[in-house]
Amino acid sequence: MNISIIGSGYVGLVSGACFAELGNQVVCADNDKKKINGLKKGIVPIYEPGLQELITNNLKNKRLKFTSSIKDAVKAGEVIFIAVGTPALENGEADLTGIENVARNIAQNMDGYRLIVEKSTVPVETCVWIKKTIATYIKDKHKFDVVSNPEFLREGSAINDFNHSDRIVLGVESAKAKQIMTDLYQPLNRPILITNIKSAELIKHASNAFLATKISFINALSRICDRVGADVKEVAQGMGLDNRIGRHFLHAGIGYGGSCFPKDTEAFITIADKLGYDFQILKAVRNTNDEQKRYVLQKIKDSLWIIKDKTIAVLGLAFKPNTDDLRNSSSIDLINALAQDGARIKVYDPKAMEKAKRVLKDVTFCKNPYQAASNADCLIVATEWNEFKELDFRKLKKRLKRALIVDGRNIYDPKLLKKLGFTYIGIGRGNE
Ligand code: UDX
Repeated sequence: MNISIIGSGYVGLVSGACFAELGNQVVCADNDKKKINGLKKGIVPIYEPGLQELITNNLKNKRLKFTSSIKDAVKAGEVIFIAVGTPALENGEADLTGIENVARNIAQNMDGYRLIVEKSTVPVETCVWIKKTIATYIKDKHKFDVVSNPEFLREGSAINDFNHSDRIVLGVESAKAKQIMTDLYQPLNRPILITNIKSAELIKHASNAFLATKISFINALSRICDRVGADVKEVAQGMGLDNRIGRHFLHAGIGYGGSCFPKDTEAFITIADKLGYDFQILKAVRNTNDEQKRYVLQKIKDSLWIIKDKTIAVLGLAFKPNTDDLRNSSSIDLINALAQDGARIKVYDPKAMEKAKRVLKDVTFCKNPYQAASNADCLIVATEWNEFKELDFRKLKKRLKRALIVDGRNIYDPKLLKKLGFTYIGIGRGNE
């Protein structure tokens, strides 16, 4: 099929590269000319495992093209995915300016039937607005359909998620749209759920809100564990073995971050408010996440007493492993809070250092975990990169001024570290 993707961010690039790999002709568009010029040469602006290879291969075999002209993209694709950003406004609502712009551009440049697919995370009823906008600005009376096809890609495993997703959700209104979309996804051989458009839009919000709820639940539980001397990892394991609960997304830590959960929960709360429903559970989820960040900070303060002039090493800057994305990273929030209290911060991340140099001022960027630990009063693990799971603790201990580890992601065995002479502070491991 001829597919165009408007918006070449995480979702757009991954989807575009994966559709090309499946044998489709794909055009990815973005109004950021610099980004597009780079992509034409195979320069991928984000780190996502496997993406560089997919883009290079499909550029070479000419199944993947890049353009900064939305007009060209609209002409090229019978199926047009909208994957532009929907950043949060001050009041928590999603900013849909980008979506409206694209819808208008599509309307003005259509030269025949088009299937417009909403991929960005958007409030319920956005599809209705896309339809209205296209109908208002369309020049000739070409036919079109609008489909909601929410994405569930996780950064760091996005390509695998695309190819092996638990489900593909298609919110459709016409038989033609249903046929085209099922044909497009059929090669993946994954379960396809056909719903009406509004249900599909809600499924995306509901899924992310529910996952965030699981995380806040386990984070709240971690605080109880600390008080009573239980281990949240054991509790999570015991809960997770019940199939009705499941073991995923029950890892206590320094609070969820990233480009989706904080923004999407906020947007869903606002959507519900507008609909006249006070979404108290979700408000508690958001508040628990904010609280968790303060709780971790307090734990560090309780161990170091005075933060001012202490040297603190932070391992991990990205909001999760296997990505260089720093958006809403809880690690960055923690660093900023510690720096504000006068700490000297040394940092290391396997992939996010370049991006971090743009957002972190007055910190020392180190080449590896040991350099970061050198002369530090405390070592914090803020992102659970595999590289940090296998550190040489003896070497680390020699470098640290004080053998204090704050394991913000619960990746270490507290008993082992204590045996090696460290003071170990985990999250919900029984040490408030
Ligand atoms: C999320 C959804 O998982 C994905 O389906 C959606 O399409 C986009 O948003 P992503 O933000 O890439 O994906 O990462 P995810 O793996 O979901 O992690 C989000 C945050 O939650 C990270 O900060 C992570 O560290 C945190 N997290 C996750 C926990 O603290 N504990 C957990 O058990 C799981």
